[in-house]
Amino acid sequence: MSHVYISHSGKDPDALLALHEALRAASVTVFYPGEDTSREEADAAIDKAFAVIVLVSAAAVRSKWVRQDVEAAKALGLKRIPYQVDKARLNGFFKQEVQPDLRLSSSMPDGLAQLVSETQEAYRKKCPVIAVMNLKGGVGKTTVSGQVFGAWQAAFGGRVLLIDLDPQYNLTQTFYPMELADASSAQDRSVISLFERSRLHARDAASPAENWLGLTTQPFTPAPRDQFAHPILGSDGPPGRLDIISGQFEISKYAFSGDPDALAAVKQHFLRCVEHYRSAYDLIVFDTNPNATFLTRCALEAADRVIAPMHADIYSLRGVRLLNQVIQNQVEDYKRPDLRILFNAVNRNEQSTFEADARNGVFDGAAGFALSKALLTAALPRSGHFAVKAPQDGQPAWRQLVIHAGRGGGLKAIRESLTQVALEIRGLNDAMTRH
Ligand SMILES: Nc1ncnc2c1ncn2[C@@H]1O[C@H](COP(=O)(O)OP(=O)(O)OP(=O)(O)O)[C@@H](O)[C@H]1O
Ligand SMILES: [Mg+2]
Repeated sequence: MSHVYISHSGKDPDALLALHEALRAASVTVFYPGEDTSREEADAAIDKAFAVIVLVSAAAVRSKWVRQDVEAAKALGLKRIPYQVDKARLNGFFKQEVQPDLRLSSSMPDGLAQLVSETQEAYRKKCPVIAVMNLKGGVGKTTVSGQVFGAWQAAFGGRVLLIDLDPQYNLTQTFYPMELADASSAQDRSVISLFERSRLHARDAASPAENWLGLTTQPFTPAPRDQFAHPILGSDGPPGRLDIISGQFEISKYAFSGDPDALAAVKQHFLRCVEHYRSAYDLIVFDTNPNATFLTRCALEAADRVIAPMHADIYSLRGVRLLNQVIQNQVEDYKRPDLRILFNAVNRNEQSTFEADARNGVFDGAAGFALSKALLTAALPRSGHFAVKAPQDGQPAWRQLVIHAGRGGGLKAIRESLTQVALEIRGLNDAMTRH
């Protein structure tokens, strides 16, 4: 279970103790740095936290340590909950980074109780899970999974996990050369370990990737994040965390299994793993396969939202119609994800009548649902910058992200549209968690 990190100067022991006691009484797991905690340990603890409480005091305002905590939390997009414990005068940094969230203080009669309840709420607020899906191939699912959500991470910070659920594993190959991806799956450090017990969970286990005919239904504890996901941003890249669980061909074995009980168990493993990793990330994104399979069902059951990229043509329209039917028919009401459509590769130079018609409801009948209402306002233009480029040897994986590519060649406009799409999806998620 993830913890709340308490940032303090070391000079407010009474306030820290009172806070620790109150959180412990509410069964909230707490981490706070002590005298012998190194900066690296503190940063690692912040990275695993679901929120950071900042004890605001005269000593904290002067503390370089607290400032570093606040900066680390900001880079990760973590919720910060400041709590004022004396009449400190805020300096410029605190005014800018802490004061906007500062509502609670120990001088309020129920200040501590409110702090505890805000902390509990931050814990309950789970990270949204988004499936990028369309039952039509080649419409930009992989491009959107990597580029839009890479841009999301760049714009909002935070910890984003990409899961490559397509047996073609193109998303993984966007970031890593094929040999690296295959070396990772040779050790089961790959997506199959969300479905079945593997060598990632126990050294003496058999690899489920080598067992095409059988499914391992034995339960397992999800592997620690750092031994499983690959950090795309690395340690020298842009701040924050964008990780990927590497894809592999062998998960297509589920399409051939005729054992419904075993498949049900394997699906449960997957759902439980996704739930587990929610506490370590702020957003989880699945790239998915274009045909309706067992993997589609798993993705739909785990997802809160589906983003379906579509081209401005009738074939894509058909894919979206089928997708909506699958969502309506195959997923029970209470766990049915919300479907939104994103126009991809639209030609911004010409006015697309197809797009205008779609927005005006002309295709709602053909789609079989209110497509015009499900369309995102933002769209991705057609651009050579989205062309697939093999990762270069020795280049860090994050260089494959358009949002972090250099200047020139119309990149500014492309980056803006990526950020606009991310912003709109984030707005939908915020509205969802408020309800
Ligand atoms: N906005 C865009 N502008 C130009 N090219 C694009 C755009 N979006 C995607 N492409 C290109 O279209 C091709 C298909 O895109 P992508 O692989 O993302 O589709 P997909 O839906 O994931 O395909 P599949 O169904 O095979 O998984 C790729 O070559 C990609 O570079
Ligand atoms: Mg794809």
